[in-house]
Amino acid sequence: MSQNHKVTFRFADGASRAIDVGDDQNVLDVALAADVPLMHQCRSGSCSSCVAHLVDGRAATRAGASSTLLASEYAAGQRLLCVTQAQGDCTFELPYGSEEGGVVPTEAHAFVNAVEPIASNVVKLSLELADGQWLSFKPGQFVQVEVPGVGQLRSYSPVSTEADLPQLDLLIRLLPEGVMSSWLSKQAKVDDVVKLKGPYGAFFLREKRRAPHIFVAGGTGLAPVLSMIDRIRQLGGRKPPMLLSFGCATSDALFYLDELELRRQWLPGLDVRICVDREPGSCYHNGSPVSALRAEDVSDPDTVAYLCGPQGMIDAATARLIELGVAPGNVFSEQFVPSN
Ligand code: FES
Repeated sequence: MSQNHKVTFRFADGASRAIDVGDDQNVLDVALAADVPLMHQCRSGSCSSCVAHLVDGRAATRAGASSTLLASEYAAGQRLLCVTQAQGDCTFELPYGSEEGGVVPTEAHAFVNAVEPIASNVVKLSLELADGQWLSFKPGQFVQVEVPGVGQLRSYSPVSTEADLPQLDLLIRLLPEGVMSSWLSKQAKVDDVVKLKGPYGAFFLREKRRAPHIFVAGGTGLAPVLSMIDRIRQLGGRKPPMLLSFGCATSDALFYLDELELRRQWLPGLDVRICVDREPGSCYHNGSPVSALRAEDVSDPDTVAYLCGPQGMIDAATARLIELGVAPGNVFSEQFVPSN
């Protein structure tokens, strides 16, 4: 017989909500039915939008459900609420405020302005929202794009900021046989219309933090990170010291180097390290963006870090930053999961 447990949600703005959840129910389903403002998108354990930190009690991933959480993240208490069942009274902390969690994604249409190859396997898709349309998002969050003519959805974090709207640029890694990749390389043309929906995701810039910022980006993981850096540039007042460590496998896969140089000039407190890890002898740091981190990069215990890239990089960067003294609660990350 199903048993009810008290599940409490604590939001970053101090708000809290408690609900009863049966031990055979998905925590997210019950919470959304009770209007608890939780971020979510796929509801199947694959997008990480619903991530929460279990700080008290027991709750586990439903048997047979898939989850993108790393074993180390699960062991540290992270849970994806859409595939989580309570095993007793328990408390979750959310990495966002109750207002942010309550934002409802909206749909918008946009025209293709340009499709520009910018590296051996990366394309910049420049869009312009149609008249009267808008798409709010925080730097770092992602939007879904419906692949024209196919109807399948793909998720991308804009490299732009909301201040750039109605222009919206996406950096898209080309995947062999990928539906978006094939549309971009074979069919997409100026003035095509694409359908967008967003925002989604709990990976976004915490604007009130003034301590040093460390950004670690692999490949197109640069997009959300650059959006965050640009947002910091747009905000008034003193800028925090910032370090961006960005890497690709080889130098022909690198992109946006001129744009990064511009940011370096605009933001004197920004240190940029460019890395390639499969090309010894290149003029860039030889190794991953994680290996470019140094002990002296973390001298402030309040340092905050944002990581975006493949799972192995996130895992290594998280471990390295914690080893250097960054508090685990100050490390925010988003891993890339190829859709194709
Ligand atoms: S809503 Fe996507 S992982 Fe839970």
